[in-house]
Amino acid sequence: MTRRPLIERYRDRLPVGPATPVVSLLEGSTPLVPLKGPPEAGRRGIRLFAKYEGMNPTASFKDRGMTLAVSKAKEAGAQAVAAASTGNTSASAAAYAARAGLAAIVVLPAGYVALGKLAQTLVHGARVIQVEGNFDAALAIVRELTERYPVALVNSINPYRIEGQKTIAFEVVEDLGEAPEFHALPVGNAGNITAHWKGYRELAEAGAIERLPRMLGFQAEGAAPIVRGAPVERPETVATAIRIGNPASWRGALRARDESGGAIEAVSDREILEAWRYLASQEGLFVEPASAASLAGVRRWLREGRIPEGSRVVLTLTGHGLKDPGTAEREVRLSPPVPARLEAVAAAAGLV
Ligand code: F0G
Repeated sequence: MTRRPLIERYRDRLPVGPATPVVSLLEGSTPLVPLKGPPEAGRRGIRLFAKYEGMNPTASFKDRGMTLAVSKAKEAGAQAVAAASTGNTSASAAAYAARAGLAAIVVLPAGYVALGKLAQTLVHGARVIQVEGNFDAALAIVRELTERYPVALVNSINPYRIEGQKTIAFEVVEDLGEAPEFHALPVGNAGNITAHWKGYRELAEAGAIERLPRMLGFQAEGAAPIVRGAPVERPETVATAIRIGNPASWRGALRARDESGGAIEAVSDREILEAWRYLASQEGLFVEPASAASLAGVRRWLREGRIPEGSRVVLTLTGHGLKDPGTAEREVRLSPPVPARLEAVAAAAGLV
């Protein structure tokens, strides 16, 4: 299949004009992979599908919003873009800025960005500034920076990011023929759940779907401000992508939850890592920990019988597992080397 720029595929539903330069890496068109399990789903005829966003050019869903945000920044004559990030936004901003011939400035929470994301961002040539603070502090600074200096903000408070990311709903409906009964995803800064819901609402308004899905958002227990109803000063979780204490799109997340009859709940790091391992070892899908929060939450809903028989549940798997080799290294065990002899290898492989 020929991949086409996201902006070209959905031009009529995106805020672009003939003069907008299309900065694209052929993002989107990601696979909707039917899952085999988990077992608690199959028994009740519930089907799960993974929207595998790790298949985007920079290996996360951020590319959907970034193609639009960077194209619009270029159209407006910007010379540079800036973002605060837990890592994926920075990698995507750096790649699209490189493509557009713009400078990228990214502000990261020092010590809390997964290695793959940091490597991408640096190799794409962004100016990387680590701050001694968390994502929320970095975002506050970038907001000010882009107000004072001629730099375009490409965080998801930039409405073009949300516009681009809403296309995930379009693709899911193209693949399923209608909306699923549930759509689950991890929630950090809450731009993505806001964007998903906007996409589904637009489809309903256009008459393309008759029913809307219930949106299920999952935060990490140590970084669950929306669940608690108050900002978290020192967010902590193994899922560094969603280590956010004061989400910028908080209201959008509440709207998605309430209008859809959905929920936003917290999952523990242990549940996240269990789901992360299940996806890789049973389904063949290697994702980063934050992405697994969606399955962690849905498994709980399944266990508690909260998902009706026959439902279809889409999980957005937001980023690729190779983004975070550090977590993999901590969670799996590599056995020591053996002599380079057949018997030793066969024994080590458990064949004898
Ligand atoms: N999953 C991954 C892999 C992410 O990188 C993010 C956010 C989310 C989920 C949550 O999405 O913020 O729209 O609610 N990453 C941002 C970043 C914060 O800087 O890369 P959200």
